[in-house]
Amino acid sequence: MIICGHRGLAGLAPENTLAGLYAAYEAGLSWVEIDVQLSQDHQVVVFHDKRLERCTNGQGYLHQSSWRKLSTLDAGYRFSEAFVGEPIPLLRDYLAKAQQLNLGVNIELKLYSDQAIAPLCAAVSQIINPLLALGLWRPEKLLLSSFSVPALATLSRLAPKAWRALLVERIPHTWAQQLHSLGTHILHCQHNKLTHAQARPLIEAGYRLSCYTVNNQARAELLASWGVHMIFCDVPLTSPNRVTNNT
Ligand code: G3P
Ligand code: MG
Repeated sequence: MIICGHRGLAGLAPENTLAGLYAAYEAGLSWVEIDVQLSQDHQVVVFHDKRLERCTNGQGYLHQSSWRKLSTLDAGYRFSEAFVGEPIPLLRDYLAKAQQLNLGVNIELKLYSDQAIAPLCAAVSQIINPLLALGLWRPEKLLLSSFSVPALATLSRLAPKAWRALLVERIPHTWAQQLHSLGTHILHCQHNKLTHAQARPLIEAGYRLSCYTVNNQARAELLASWGVHMIFCDVPLTSPNRVTNNT
């Protein structure tokens, strides 16, 4: 089972920052998950919330802020003094660093409005398509995910080489049809709403099931025993059965 740092490695470093990427690397993880959104001027930035206040010294909505403004914000000081001045990264820069560190990246497209779907999918595709086409990233080391079914459908057209995962809280009864219609075999669900009875048929049928957000070693070991492929963690748990090829 793969241990994937959640929002970088949000328990050890400010979420969705390069400091978090380095923390995941230092902890020996092979994957990180990040959230991305569009700034007002359509730059793809790595950030979770709709608003700026919780994680930065900025105010207001991220989608109403220019990259010029966002690039001046401090996304580290609220976490701890050790991270004062840590900036919000652009997706492009984050991927370049992750590639240097040989870390897989799960890019979660955060969509707080339907109007954002088309421009965010287009902007993310413009960044990752050349990387995949030129062989700079192996497809199995770059995973797009979203709670938005329309976004995943859009990505299947705009970035057909990219692997995609459907994010849900609870696994719906219609999971097989939904994955089939999206052309993917990867499902991410909330671990504390998952039962073994739900996981078993999915995993036995060859689908790839991953779980967020697991910060308890005993729970990680139980999920591994069920055959869960990857878990998202804020702290570096130990994989009970480490996947050797890191995919
Ligand atoms: O991608 C898994 C997880 O990150 C989804 O929830 O709110 O932490 O982005 P959230
Ligand atoms: Mg996320």
